[in-house]
Amino acid sequence: MNPNPAYALRTALASDLDALTELEQRAFTLSDGPLTRRAFAYHLRSKNLLLVVLDHGQPQRLAGYILVFMHRCSARIYSLAVSSEHQGRGVAKTLVKAACAEAVARDLDCVNLEVRPSNDAAIGLYESIGFQKTSLRKDYYGLNENGWRMQWRVKNTA
Ligand SMILES: CC(C)(COP(=O)(O)OP(=O)(O)OC[C@H]1O[C@@H](n2cnc3c(N)ncnc32)[C@H](O)[C@@H]1OP(=O)(O)O)[C@@H](O)C(=O)NCCC(=O)NCCS
Repeated sequence: MNPNPAYALRTALASDLDALTELEQRAFTLSDGPLTRRAFAYHLRSKNLLLVVLDHGQPQRLAGYILVFMHRCSARIYSLAVSSEHQGRGVAKTLVKAACAEAVARDLDCVNLEVRPSNDAAIGLYESIGFQKTSLRKDYYGLNENGWRMQWRVKNTA
């Protein structure tokens, strides 16, 4: 689950709130609608899956996070970001694979997400794990900005 020994994966804690908020503000522009500090505080208390990857520096720094909504039959990756200095090292892949492993453990049918068609890095990441584009959702991100729905099927991957 954590192929790179320089990183450690764990569930997010209340003490990660500042680092999560800072990473989010650096990873997304205002027009992307970044999660607010208040939203992270809510998700830290919720039963949603919020995982973080830390590097092994002293002090440890937040390298990335994933937020996943767990529904009765499916999971939905709601947000994912890796800080720029840790990109390209498999951090996102570790996080997405952990979300998929949780879907398997909960016996769900699939993991869904939406992604901007312009986000080549994210689409490449999801495809490298086995997600497939299932539909183009018109104006999903606002007028004239569609969204790809992508899906990873638990049952096909056993
Ligand atoms: C998209 C994002 C999460 C990728 O994080 P990352 O940790 O750099 O990704 P990884 O190193 O785990 O890459 C895993 C795979 O993704 C694909 N990938 C990553 N970056 C890519 C790029 N720039 N172009 C194409 N494919 C890419 C590759 O298949 C890669 O596997 P490989 O290195 O074996 O070729 C990161 O760029 C990010 O935080 N971007 C800003 C926020 C964002 O767009 N979030 C996603 C919203 S849906």
